[in-house]
Amino acid sequence: MMHGIVFFKTAVLPIIREFYVRVLELPIWLDQGACTIFRNGNLLLGFCQSENAETEGTITLFFPNRSAVQEAYKKHESLALEPPKDNPRFSIYHFWAKDPEGRNLEFQSFDHPLEPHLSLEDGLMQRRSIRHYYPSPVPDDILNKVFELCRYSPTARNLQSYYYIVIKQREALEQIVNLRGPAGDPILASPYAIAVVARGDLARRKVQDACIAAYHLLLAAKAFGLGTCWVTDMDRDEVKSILNIPQDDYVACLTPIGYPAEEFALPKRHEVSSFVRYL
Ligand SMILES: Cc1cc2nc3c(=O)[nH]c(=O)nc-3n(C[C@H](O)[C@H](O)[C@H](O)COP(=O)(O)O)c2cc1C
Repeated sequence: MMHGIVFFKTAVLPIIREFYVRVLELPIWLDQGACTIFRNGNLLLGFCQSENAETEGTITLFFPNRSAVQEAYKKHESLALEPPKDNPRFSIYHFWAKDPEGRNLEFQSFDHPLEPHLSLEDGLMQRRSIRHYYPSPVPDDILNKVFELCRYSPTARNLQSYYYIVIKQREALEQIVNLRGPAGDPILASPYAIAVVARGDLARRKVQDACIAAYHLLLAAKAFGLGTCWVTDMDRDEVKSILNIPQDDYVACLTPIGYPAEEFALPKRHEVSSFVRYL
């Protein structure tokens, strides 16, 4: 596996550093003195002090949706060359600006689903429980790519005891939600749902295997821009009968899966000091 950095020469490193840190708020990933490398999501962007600046090309910063581009525009209006607009040729929404040395900066969102690009760190932070979805179902080829990532979920003794049931039958989902009550409603909010199960006849730790496989699915789905929501209390005889699951297997959860019709700012959570102890 490889990773990458794109470097530009700059004639005014301190000014560039100030601009990318203070104005664009890109965190510094590595400061090497004569070179500063910034990180923005999957982008590693380096500037090195030199006699001449390299200003050709375009630095594109992309956002999850149009409203985020509009927000970026509000924030950087003084740098922008014009307001955001559609570019139907590439199915994008964007605006242009310049950095202090005249490099092209583009702020954009894509109007179509993307292959994975989130860093693991961003995925872990930005996954949220999604309870509202667009009606278009996840195409089978995308779903298969999600399941390809699910192959690497850890299991006790590597027994790989977990399995997923893709439930497209509306009637079955409605029966399950009726059993579960309102906390189960997210299951009906997307075109279909997935049950995450571990085999009782195979697993040494069926509860742990199934729960980890469930979280692995939630994160794999996030990598493809898909929403999910863990709906619990599904390890019930009635649910197993509806889904034709052996009684000895363990059902960790059902989750809707689909394209999120809601988005959230990063939530407030407990400080690390409140949940980490050192002995
Ligand atoms: C074990 C577990 C059980 C959950 N059960 C439900 C549920 O039955 N229904 C529901 O809507 N959300 C359920 N959730 C989602 C939580 O409400 C959600 O994870 C929590 O509020 C934090 O929000 P976030 O997932 O957006 O970070 C469950 C989550 C976990 C981990």
